[in-house]
Amino acid sequence: MAGNWKMYKTPQETAAFFSSFNPMVVGTSNCDVVVFPPTISICSAAEATRSTQIAIGGQNIYWEKEGAFTGETSANMLCAAGATWVLIGHSERRHVVACENDSQVLKKAQAALAAGLKPIICMGEKLEDHKAGKTDEVLIKQFAGGVAGLTEEQFAQVVLAYEPVWAIGTGKVATPEIASASHKLMREEAAKRFGEEASQQVRILYGGSVKPENIAGLMNEVELDGALVGGASLDPESFAALVRGA
Ligand code: 13P
Repeated sequence: MAGNWKMYKTPQETAAFFSSFNPMVVGTSNCDVVVFPPTISICSAAEATRSTQIAIGGQNIYWEKEGAFTGETSANMLCAAGATWVLIGHSERRHVVACENDSQVLKKAQAALAAGLKPIICMGEKLEDHKAGKTDEVLIKQFAGGVAGLTEEQFAQVVLAYEPVWAIGTGKVATPEIASASHKLMREEAAKRFGEEASQQVRILYGGSVKPENIAGLMNEVELDGALVGGASLDPESFAALVRGA
């Protein structure tokens, strides 16, 4: 169960979140829990979760180790701040803030793995593609240009996420059937490139308007291995309900 906080929560608000959230999920061992605060709040989050099972991740990295790249953060820097995970290729980075493309997604995933970070590589189609029946085409292209460039050893370390852009922050959750069909397609692409066993082992999360009220139906689908939650991860009670619902 992954919570992507996007551009929400200062270091102080982060500390306050975990002082409420930690006791609500203490002893929960049904799933891995990882929270992705903004970069500025990673140290605060790592400190607040030090003796818990909750892991912390960054929302983005740059692929170089260091250099004249104003505004960027390297994988090693995230590790040093206490992160163990990183989101790669989130749709807001692809379409809203940075025009990230598939080859950059691959470079970022490789840099993350080289530094020992576990990447969650995100894919998903925009509304116009969804309406035009082009979901499979988009996912196949994103897989081929990004994930398929990893080695088999690297692929064994990653988690994938299906996040249809039309479901992100819109309150329009994909039906369990729609999500399941896309996960199945991504698993088929993985099987073609990395083999059947690797495709069965990779975890694929669903993201897009996941809430405590709809988590049960989504998690009933065998193809869905977890969720990548935006808005509903910002409130300790609703994120704790989602962790329990996983
Ligand atoms: P929402 O849960 O707010 O729709 O966001 C989903 C998302 O983008 C998670 O990465």
